[in-house]
Amino acid sequence: MKGESGMGRVENGGRRLNTRMRGVSPSATMTITSEAARLRRRGENVVNLAAGEPDFDTPDYIKEAAVKALREGRTKYGPAAGLLELREAVAAKLQRENSLEYSPEQIVVSNGAKQALFNVIQVLCDKGDRVLIPAPYWVSYPEMVRMAGAVPVGVPADYEKGYRITVADLERSAVEGARVLLLNSPCNPSGVVYTRREIEEFVAFALERGMVIISDEVYEHILFDGVEHVSPGSLSREALDATITINGFSKTYAMTGWRLGYAAMPRWLARNVAAMQSHSSSGPNTFAQYGALAALKGSGSEIQDMVRAYRERRDHMLKNLGGLTNMQLLKPQGTFYMLGDISAMGIDSFAFAERLLAVERVAVIPGKPFGVPGHVRLSYACSLEDLEEGTRRLVHFLRH
Ligand SMILES: Cc1ncc(COP(=O)(O)O)c(C=O)c1O
Repeated sequence: MKGESGMGRVENGGRRLNTRMRGVSPSATMTITSEAARLRRRGENVVNLAAGEPDFDTPDYIKEAAVKALREGRTKYGPAAGLLELREAVAAKLQRENSLEYSPEQIVVSNGAKQALFNVIQVLCDKGDRVLIPAPYWVSYPEMVRMAGAVPVGVPADYEKGYRITVADLERSAVEGARVLLLNSPCNPSGVVYTRREIEEFVAFALERGMVIISDEVYEHILFDGVEHVSPGSLSREALDATITINGFSKTYAMTGWRLGYAAMPRWLARNVAAMQSHSSSGPNTFAQYGALAALKGSGSEIQDMVRAYRERRDHMLKNLGGLTNMQLLKPQGTFYMLGDISAMGIDSFAFAERLLAVERVAVIPGKPFGVPGHVRLSYACSLEDLEEGTRRLVHFLRH
C-alpha cells in the first residue's frame, strides 16, 4: 500500500516527522496527472482518461444561490458543524432517498467528503486499531487510517471475483483488533455496486463483532442498468447505530471545487467530530453551503442527464476496448470509472501508465495505490470525442 514518495523519510539534520506520517504517501494519482499537465502546457495533444471528477460544470441554479449568499453578506464564520438549514436539508435528503433516520445534530458538514472521512477516522481510531478495507479501494483510505496511527487491512478481490469481496473474505481477514469496516458502494475504482443481500451480510458481520461501519456513498446516484444503492444504516436500528454515512456534493452535482461533504452518525460521535472540526478548519465555507442547500432542494433533473451521459460513455468505452487479449474489463454498474486488468502483460501499473502517456499521450491512473497492482483505472468523465480518441490510442498501444 506504499507509494514512492519520500514523506516517510526522517532526515533533515536530526529533525524528524512524527511516527504517524512515516509511510504516508502523497496522492499517487498526482504523478501521472502532473506529467500530463506538463505535456499539455508544452502544446502536446494529451487525452485525459484519468479524471477523478465530473467534466460537467456545476448547474447554474446552484451557483446563483452561492452568488446571492455572497451578495447578501453571508461572508462570516458559520457553525463548526455547518449551517443548521443545510444540516436540516441533509437530514431530509437522507430520510427521503436513503431511508436513514438522522437528526440535524447527527450531521457534520465538512470541506468535502474527504475531510468528513478524515475527521471520522481520527476520532474513531486508536494506535494499532485495524480497519478492514475491501480492495480495490479509493487511494486515500489507507493513508487516512495511517495518519490516525491505525493499520489498514486490505481485503482483496480480483477480476475473477468481479472485484467483489464476500463475507467469507472478511472473515478470513478479520484480524484481532479489527474495529472498523470501510465500505464504498458504488466503488471507486471498480464501479462495483453491492447488492442488498451483500450489504446485509456485511452489516451482520460487523454487528456480530461490535465493529463500526463507515459507508462512503459519494457515488450513490451514478448507477446504471437499474441497480439499486443500499445504505447499510437503513437496514435496522442497530445497523444505524453502528454506521457512519459519508456523502457529499462533488460527484452528484459536479461540485468538486466547492469542497462540501458530510458525515451522518450517532450523536456521541457527531459531538466529537464537530469539536475536532471546530479546532481545525473551524467549519465549511459559509456562502458555498447556500449553493449546497439549493442543490438539495433542486429537482435532480440535471443528475439524470449526467448519469445518462456517463452510461453512454461507459458503453462506448467497453465497445471500443472489447476483444483485447492483454486488457480485461468488467462492466461497471456505477461511478465513472472502470478497471483494466493488465496483469497478463507482467508490467508494473506505474510503468504502464508512464509508457502510455509517453508513447500515445493518454493519461490513465496506475492501479497499485488502489490495491490492484496489475491494473489501471480508466475514467469516462470526459467528452465522447476524447473517449473515442483515447481508446483508439490505447488499443494501438496494446496491439503494438
Ligand atoms: C470514494 C471517494 N470518496 C470520497 C471522495 C472525496 O470527495 P470530496 O470531493 O467530497 O472530498 C472521493 C473523491 O474522489 C472518492 O472517490
